Amino acid sequence: MKTYSIAAIPGDGIGPEVIAEGIKVLNAAARLHHFTIEWKQYPFGADHYLATGEVLTEQNLAELARHDAIYFGACGDERVAPGILEKGLVIAIRMYCDQYINIRPIRLLPGIESPLRDKSARDIDFVVIRENTEDFYVAAGSRVSTKCQHDSLRVTRKLYTVDFAIDVQHTAESMAYQIGLVTAEGIRRAVSYAFKLAQRRRRHVTLIDKANVLTDMYSLWREVSREVAAGFPDVSTEYMLVDAAAMWFVRSPEMFDVVVAPNMFGDILTDLGAAIQGGLGTSAGANVNPEGVSMFEPIHGSAPPLKGLQKANPIATIWAGAMMLETIGQPEAAASVMRAIERNLERGRVRTSDLGGTATTSQVGDDIVECMQPN
Ligand code: IPM
Ligand code: MN
Repeated sequence: MKTYSIAAIPGDGIGPEVIAEGIKVLNAAARLHHFTIEWKQYPFGADHYLATGEVLTEQNLAELARHDAIYFGACGDERVAPGILEKGLVIAIRMYCDQYINIRPIRLLPGIESPLRDKSARDIDFVVIRENTEDFYVAAGSRVSTKCQHDSLRVTRKLYTVDFAIDVQHTAESMAYQIGLVTAEGIRRAVSYAFKLAQRRRRHVTLIDKANVLTDMYSLWREVSREVAAGFPDVSTEYMLVDAAAMWFVRSPEMFDVVVAPNMFGDILTDLGAAIQGGLGTSAGANVNPEGVSMFEPIHGSAPPLKGLQKANPIATIWAGAMMLETIGQPEAAASVMRAIERNLERGRVRTSDLGGTATTSQVGDDIVECMQPN
């Protein structure tokens, strides 16, 4: 029997509660489809950081990358300054494993009502491909505390290295800067992925940027995208500024099939996408390296006020788990999990409070297991 080794990082806040349901449902899918998953649980997150002073070591990263996939809950805790866990954990894994694609399906599942009046499941069904290693996420920046400062900043990726030597002199009270960068290689691999995906869908790609203001970065983004698009004559292409895209997500979501966006705009737009598909409780994401190890997670964060209350909706995490099964080579098991989620929602009896129900996190997990049937 085929066995997969998967690293589970439940993390902070509601992370452990939702990951527990994800593991429960994926184990049921594995039994049904005759494979096994060997879970290795890792304690990374706020508690681990507070106890050891370390978020993740190089050695931890190397160990995580030896699994077939990584299943991640959430990170963020009020005892730890913003950025430490996010950058030290999620971003560190994305960059270390070179997970250059972030896939976020924006699909209104049956039985869920969109906050958009008059929009149904037919209208809300697209995928956002977010470039996941560049842009303003390269962590190159500085707080300039003196009037004169020299910074040496380095960005290392599997594909390239970039060094900045920056001399800053200023007359402001204090200042800070943050560098965004994109490369031809980085843009090409993300945009190509989006076009290939579109060929399996409705063959339309919307490219997001802010080329009217951030002209340097996003003129390169458009140039490379145009080259990629030329290789896919069967796919139609549209360029859209991010602010306009935010409006169209709400007004006419049906116009989108595959949306491809630079890292930060993709981050913001996918929270909006989550809202139109009924909320963060049912929105999933995958950080994918098509040639390497990928990580799967709900889009929502750790939601500290809900921690330990069994109120969090586990569907986002279970959906992310289905994406994981598909990626590791079990598409039928993935389909079973998706159908079980849909059955749970259609029956509508066992729901958490974000969907108007009174069920606990683990009751929803149990019901989804019950809804699972052979294909
Ligand atoms: C997301 C999150 C992360 C991001 C944080 C937790 C680093 O908001 O996955 O969208 O900004 O990418
Ligand atoms: Mn986000």
